[in-house]
Amino acid sequence: MKRTHHCAQLTSADLGASVSLLGWVDSVRDHGGIIFIDLRDRKGVTQVKFDPQDDANLGAQAAHLKPESVIEVAGKVVARPAGTVNAALPTGEVEVNAGALVVHNVADTPPFPLDDAGGDKVNEDLRLTYRYLDLRRPKMRKNLQVRHRVAKSIRDYFDAQEFIEVETPALFKSTPEGAREYLVPSRIHAGQFYALSQSPQQFKQILMVAGVEKYFQIARCFRDEDLRADRQMEFTQVDVEASFIDREGIYALFEGMLKKVWKDVLDHDLPTPFPRLAYKDAMNRYGVDKPDVRFALELQDFTDLFKTSAFKVFAATATGGGAVKAVNAKGLADVTQGELKALEDAAKSLGAKGLAFIKVEGGEWKSPIVKFFTDAEKAELTARLNIADGDIIFFAAAPWEQACAILGRIRLDAAQLLAKRGKLTLRPNDWRFLWVVDFPLMSYDEERGGYAATHHPFTAPVPEDTALLDSDPKAVRGQHYDVVLNGMELGGGSIRIHQPALQKKVFEDVLKIPADVVESRFGYMLKAFTYGAPPHGGIAFGLDRMAALLCGTTSIRDVIAFPKTQKGQCLMTQSPTPVTEKQLKELHIQTVMPPAEQG
Ligand code: AMO
Ligand code: AMP
Repeated sequence: MKRTHHCAQLTSADLGASVSLLGWVDSVRDHGGIIFIDLRDRKGVTQVKFDPQDDANLGAQAAHLKPESVIEVAGKVVARPAGTVNAALPTGEVEVNAGALVVHNVADTPPFPLDDAGGDKVNEDLRLTYRYLDLRRPKMRKNLQVRHRVAKSIRDYFDAQEFIEVETPALFKSTPEGAREYLVPSRIHAGQFYALSQSPQQFKQILMVAGVEKYFQIARCFRDEDLRADRQMEFTQVDVEASFIDREGIYALFEGMLKKVWKDVLDHDLPTPFPRLAYKDAMNRYGVDKPDVRFALELQDFTDLFKTSAFKVFAATATGGGAVKAVNAKGLADVTQGELKALEDAAKSLGAKGLAFIKVEGGEWKSPIVKFFTDAEKAELTARLNIADGDIIFFAAAPWEQACAILGRIRLDAAQLLAKRGKLTLRPNDWRFLWVVDFPLMSYDEERGGYAATHHPFTAPVPEDTALLDSDPKAVRGQHYDVVLNGMELGGGSIRIHQPALQKKVFEDVLKIPADVVESRFGYMLKAFTYGAPPHGGIAFGLDRMAALLCGTTSIRDVIAFPKTQKGQCLMTQSPTPVTEKQLKELHIQTVMPPAEQG
């Protein structure tokens, strides 16, 4: 088998050459007895001509070829007749006059069309069941190539910065404070389990104690989470840790990486440095810690204004420690009843008691609550929300974080509605990166009645806040940072605690983990820190998310060769599956099935 060229290679420069091509039959067309085959390989398509006048046998054989069959063709490169040149194809000026044909495999008819448009229309489950066919589609093939280039660009970048890639174990130990984890039973140690690594966090910190100084890894991570378009149970992180680095060092390092990736993959120059936004400001202005800043529609706070409002709901919230916030969905006064209901439902799903609004039409404020507003209140609303005819203003009165979150959601949904009307443009290639910083180190968990680490317990406090750890943990800012792009969290990390005493204090005094539990879970780490741990910090990026953005898709399933469905299944291999009694016995496992679901 000798392949002289690939299927995107031949041009007029090759006229007269004897060539041999291998690939898949993309299409078979019969033009009055002359058979034209588009032959496809991973690079592209070349037209092959079988003329029965040259060889009747060969022509008849070609006429019966089924699409997606694998063939080998030998022949001569000839010019296409004038008027049949296809300028859209690199090989569009030529065709191969076939002199020989070998059929390596005959294909059954695929269950869905393998062109981009046809494949996009079919149910994703069907695509995932026949993923090997789905991946033959040009778009999916391109996605895999882009993902490869992203990974290569990243490896080259860190290599040039003298980082080394170190592999860390996938089989780790259970650390229940993170996301839910996958447990792996040990055969040798009855009743004991490994956990699949949720991230290389602890190992990469240990590598800093080991003196590696500059570590990176393109690492597979496992989390038993509810799956969504941007979440898989098994995903890939670009994981990095460095010693003797501060926040500014990390920002510069990663702006450099992203700049290189965007240049290498899209030939786009990202402006750096990225803007920075404090968590509090992100919440106050956009109602979310991963704001999409491609459009304004910023939230405004009217808590002070409404302390004396005649509208009891607002006054009670404002004087009772909550917040009253508003957002002007500019130009959306023509919202339909159905759309309004959907906005209200979205607000209620976040615990809103209601979603008061004012429509401004024909110079008039239309709302059941407008009668409560004084002229002074109206004037301040008008000025700060830039209210004009055709606008609709939404209000949320609730505890601060909740009021922000409700209107943050309304802001995003309103932007979609405005985009649908052509009143706002959301270009996917308007790359608005930013760093979100100054997160609270701890969040108070009302249900459990205690503090939990906002990100993870290894994050160092901002030095000037450290003294508040005892008196007011929730006022302590963490040295954490997130990289956000167009409403998506791309990556996050922090400068870490490297002093064993401070780490122990966070575990025991702030997080209230009993000393013996700290010892059994993190004892090895605390011990390692007593042997000379350098100051260190790092970050991890979602490679799948980055690749998805660069491919212009919103689903990371489109950039993972073999993803799981929303229900955590691999439809191609039909996993997960039951296993035999013998296997279970060997692993010292008994299964207890849940009672059959009702109804
Ligand atoms: P974190 O949990 O924020 O940080 O994860 C870092 C990045 O990984 C991506 N990511 C995911 N992508 C797809 N599917 C998932 N289920 C999923 N979960 C996370 C996101 C996220 O920003 N060890 C820390 C990092 C550090 O502190 O250095 C960590 O894992 O893009
Ligand atoms: P009511 O006086 O309860 O009929 O409420 C008047 C309007 O205010 C309705 O549109 C409610 O949806 C809305 N509303 C009620 N509570 C809140 C709240 N906490 N935040 C925002 N709007 C509210």
